[in-house]
Amino acid sequence: MDLTHSPLADGDRDTAGGALQGALVDLVDLSLVAKQAHWNLYGPRFRSVHLHLDEVVATARDFADQVAERAAAIGVSPDGRAATLARTSGLPEFPAGWIADDEVVGHLVEAFGAVIGRMRERIEQTDSADAVTQDLLIAVTAALEKHSWMFRAENRN
Ligand SMILES: [Fe+2]
Repeated sequence: MDLTHSPLADGDRDTAGGALQGALVDLVDLSLVAKQAHWNLYGPRFRSVHLHLDEVVATARDFADQVAERAAAIGVSPDGRAATLARTSGLPEFPAGWIADDEVVGHLVEAFGAVIGRMRERIEQTDSADAVTQDLLIAVTAALEKHSWMFRAENRN
């Protein structure tokens, strides 16, 4: 059994694998941040933001699984360990403790901005390395940009 077998040439595999690993870390961390906010939220918009946050968790977990399995499919071992997340996530740190709805929305908009920027770089990086990986990263980015728009639309200013 050769798990390192890849349909890609070595250089392309490394490029696509690096992009997928980075996407995995950002997506798992996003799922954790959204749950942290889901649990600590308060304010008049509690219900709508609480429910929206779980939709973000579902999106992030689903795509985390897809990018990890794409990495495995091209012969790259995915690393979703907590220590790796803590060291390499591109998300801003989410504050501890209870947090008001307006602040949650602000933090989520900031987090989406950071992740989307990194995802768009990964789309560029994989352009010639692997169209299949790039296609997945485009789908991830489209879903994140949709959530980002919805959170931005929740703010009056
Ligand atoms: Fe819940």
